[in-house]
Amino acid sequence: MSKQTRSRTGLRVVTIDGPSGGGKSTVSRKVAAELGYTYLDTGAMYRAVAFGCEQAGVDVENETAVVALLDKLHIKLLPAASGGDDVRVFLNGEDISTAVRTPEMGMLASKVSAFQPVRSKLTAMQQEMGESGNLVAEGRDTGTIVFPDALWKFYLDAAPEERARRRVEQLRQKGQQVDEGALLAQIIKRDQDDRERTIAPLTKAEDAVLIDSSRLSADEVVARMLKVIRKQKKRYHPPPGMIPLL
Ligand code: DC
Repeated sequence: MSKQTRSRTGLRVVTIDGPSGGGKSTVSRKVAAELGYTYLDTGAMYRAVAFGCEQAGVDVENETAVVALLDKLHIKLLPAASGGDDVRVFLNGEDISTAVRTPEMGMLASKVSAFQPVRSKLTAMQQEMGESGNLVAEGRDTGTIVFPDALWKFYLDAAPEERARRRVEQLRQKGQQVDEGALLAQIIKRDQDDRERTIAPLTKAEDAVLIDSSRLSADEVVARMLKVIRKQKKRYHPPPGMIPLL
């Protein structure tokens, strides 16, 4: 870890964790844009592994088979295309950005994310991306495992029904057909699996600020986060000779 990216108080990274459909992606993108930081969608990486398994005909519940495939999966994330919202996801050079963003791929991603070798590979990639700081990382374990020293941590939650409603709206906007009842059941199951797995479970970091977005718009959540970040920035002490970027 470069000394330049660490202050005496931590790593210049914002982490935003929480269950699916809580608005993490929209909010993370906006916070990153406001701060001029890079946005890291860690869920997209787990989705890419799931996609690779499906493409290769590998059962996502078979850890040995998933792990055997892992070395052959070269995942790359690129910033959203102009006019687009989502980070672009490439697997072995193929653009799989649209294919990975389905509820089914979310369920498969949750399955492969429970395997330690999968987590180790993706966590190392994510930490490398955060080495130079100036990053907003979104996921399930970014504040607890990936960037425990992050300067600013948030946990974004909302009622399951509200999360399902938002996810339905998001998918319909993308032209996907969705059954709201089935999606709610999927969301509840996925969150339960993500919370109950033994490795890097979805949980709020002790030092994360909890925000319940059930009754807040994305812009209201962003405003709350920026307020916390800007207040804490005042306590940031750059190393001698380094120009404070905050
Ligand atoms: O955020 P998402 O819906 O794209 O994530 C898909 C799945 O990937 C999620 O259900 C669990 C897994 N995941 C994870 O285990 N850790 C992360 N940091 C991000 C996602």
